[in-house]
Amino acid sequence: MNFIKPLDALWLQNALQNACPNTSFAIEVLATIDSTNRYLLEKETENFHVCLAEQQTTGRGRMGKAWVSPHGVNLYCSIAWLFDDPILKASGLSLLTGIITAKALEEYGVSCIELKWPNDLLYQHKKIGGILIEMIPYKKNIYKIVIGIGINVFLSRVLKQDDQRIKQPWTDVTSALYFEPDRNQIAYTLLKNLFETLPIFTEKGFAEFQPSWLAKDTLLNQTVTLETGKKTLKGISKGVDSRGYLLVDIEGKIESFSSAEVIQCRVD
Ligand code: BTN
Repeated sequence: MNFIKPLDALWLQNALQNACPNTSFAIEVLATIDSTNRYLLEKETENFHVCLAEQQTTGRGRMGKAWVSPHGVNLYCSIAWLFDDPILKASGLSLLTGIITAKALEEYGVSCIELKWPNDLLYQHKKIGGILIEMIPYKKNIYKIVIGIGINVFLSRVLKQDDQRIKQPWTDVTSALYFEPDRNQIAYTLLKNLFETLPIFTEKGFAEFQPSWLAKDTLLNQTVTLETGKKTLKGISKGVDSRGYLLVDIEGKIESFSSAEVIQCRVD
């Protein structure tokens, strides 16, 4: 395997400080951790405390699934975000993080990323990244949201496509580019976009970003099957509303679903 440059906290801190001089943040890079999300949820942090790890031993995916996180080949990144408004909806934030991550990957050179509600990033119909948002009450009237982002960068160097640990087709950044990706540069582009865009979300909510989602929505006008826990529903996906809820035409009636209601959403 070719040498892959390690993540560099000092370089990232300096580069981001120059790019976002008015944002205060902290970056730490860990060699190994169970989960960067779990770590930040439990750690005393300021706003925009970022944790990147070279490896996660029990990386968390959505719906209790594991996120395969081998050493030194991908990006495992979590950002703590403190806020005092419980109205802020984590579902819209998950979608927004997808939009921001897609934009960052495209800026880096991976073209035509698509988004699959609520949190999958796809390249050529295969999963290249995922988002996991977790939230806890933190201090009096303050909530902590941890935004977790996993991006496959060099996963194909250490894992076979049919590895049983990943249950859906996947790809990685190196397979999408003609040059050798640099994980520090990808992390820089991602965090810069996050620091610039999250304050707009606080002010304007998801509605501001709804058109950006629709432009990348891979489910749009596709037949989808939703497992809601109570029943299985089938319909035609009609995009998302201004809260980030999935809109589905079920027998001529448009119904909306939050990610909390839907256990699984499959495209048929
Ligand atoms: C999914 O698609 O199921 C969501 C995957 C989220 C993975 C990231 S990697 C960094 C952060 N730490 C975790 O344990 N999970 C998220």
